[in-house]
Amino acid sequence: MDRIHNPFSPGAGSPPPELAGRDGILDQARVLLGRAQVGRPEKSLLLTGLRGVGKTVLLNEIEHLAQGGGYRTILVEALENKSMAVLLIPHLRRLLFELDRTAGAGNKVRRAVGVLKSFISGVKVKVGEVEFGLDIEPEQGAADSGDLEVDLPNLFTAVAEAAQERKAALAVLIDEIQYFSLPELSALIMALHKMQQRQLPLVLIGAGLPILPGLAGESKSYAERLFNFPAIGPLAESDAAKALRDPIEEAGEAIDPAALQEVFRLTRGYPYFLQEWGYQAWNQAGASPITLQDVREATELVARRLDENFFRVRFDRLTPREKQYLRAMAELGPGPHRTADIAGALKARITSLGPVRASLIRKGMIYSPAHGEMAFTVPLFDGFMRRAIPEFEPYGRGA
Ligand SMILES: Nc1ncnc2c1ncn2[C@@H]1O[C@H](COP(=O)(O)OP(=O)(O)O)[C@@H](O)[C@H]1O
Ligand SMILES: [Mg+2]
Repeated sequence: MDRIHNPFSPGAGSPPPELAGRDGILDQARVLLGRAQVGRPEKSLLLTGLRGVGKTVLLNEIEHLAQGGGYRTILVEALENKSMAVLLIPHLRRLLFELDRTAGAGNKVRRAVGVLKSFISGVKVKVGEVEFGLDIEPEQGAADSGDLEVDLPNLFTAVAEAAQERKAALAVLIDEIQYFSLPELSALIMALHKMQQRQLPLVLIGAGLPILPGLAGESKSYAERLFNFPAIGPLAESDAAKALRDPIEEAGEAIDPAALQEVFRLTRGYPYFLQEWGYQAWNQAGASPITLQDVREATELVARRLDENFFRVRFDRLTPREKQYLRAMAELGPGPHRTADIAGALKARITSLGPVRASLIRKGMIYSPAHGEMAFTVPLFDGFMRRAIPEFEPYGRGA
């Protein structure tokens, strides 16, 4: 079939032709945005799930919803080695600059600029050109204590008050939120707590791997009260079928039910995999409808492409010892697995495994879905590990 009109879009963050099975989440987002705008408290959203389930796509969609509803938005992606302050400062600066140019009386925008400048001096980061187009001195003592848990709430308050004064609402969207350090996450949670207490029009919508298990004490209990954590997972069979069938029919072609069933069996409904199989099956098919046979013939190519791209990019960044740890997890099955069981499989002492585990978490390969448990961040990764390293070898006693 015509490759140019192939509707499927495998790739990180690529908008799918049909955003299937996510109406419930989008509805929750709509309610949150609507309520925050009229000053009614509502829990913020933290979309959690494995890689390739469609979190980034959802976050972008929610940003569109927010903008359509009159929000001003900031969308950032947290990175392994970048501080939250460095990430947010340029966006907040742009936002305040925009607010300054909207009609309205009052001095809250100018004050917020002073607080932002104070914040910048407090976190002691280099932010490039600190050019605001506004000649305002830092407000000494406003957000420069150097303690992020104090300074970030003060900064958010000043910014949200500025927005409120200009009759604006703000949505801060953060992708890959698990890359923030624990102090950064607690500071963010404290800042949101303050937004809610003061009924300020600033909402946060995050996406990433689950962060709750890593939090402790006060920030954990605040997080539980301030956020809903909708789990973004694989699609149910009917939604997976819709994700494939609708775009194909939209393009004037067809797919057999048996072909849809086979794709679901192979992908288990994981969105990234659905796009890959849809894409290759379309190209494989000589003519409409796409048949079971077309899917079967596409499968070898898809599996190879997934192994070479989706799985391999992550694998190649690992040390031999890290690979062995993941191979031990794969030996135990899809997971999650208890850390004690992993140590058992590796024939190593659990206490000796802290560093390798920490670096795998930092690299985004595994995460802790619950205390004392580890899981792969990529669906079906256990199968890939067994293909990549057919023979499992434990560390052995010395480890
Ligand atoms: N609801 C959905 N239905 C069909 N395909 C989807 C859906 N959500 C995401 N996808 C597809 O899945 C892939 C991964 O999406 P992405 O948002 O990058 O996932 P994540 O951010 O969770 O890793 C993309 O190719 C995207 O087009
Ligand atoms: Mg993503």
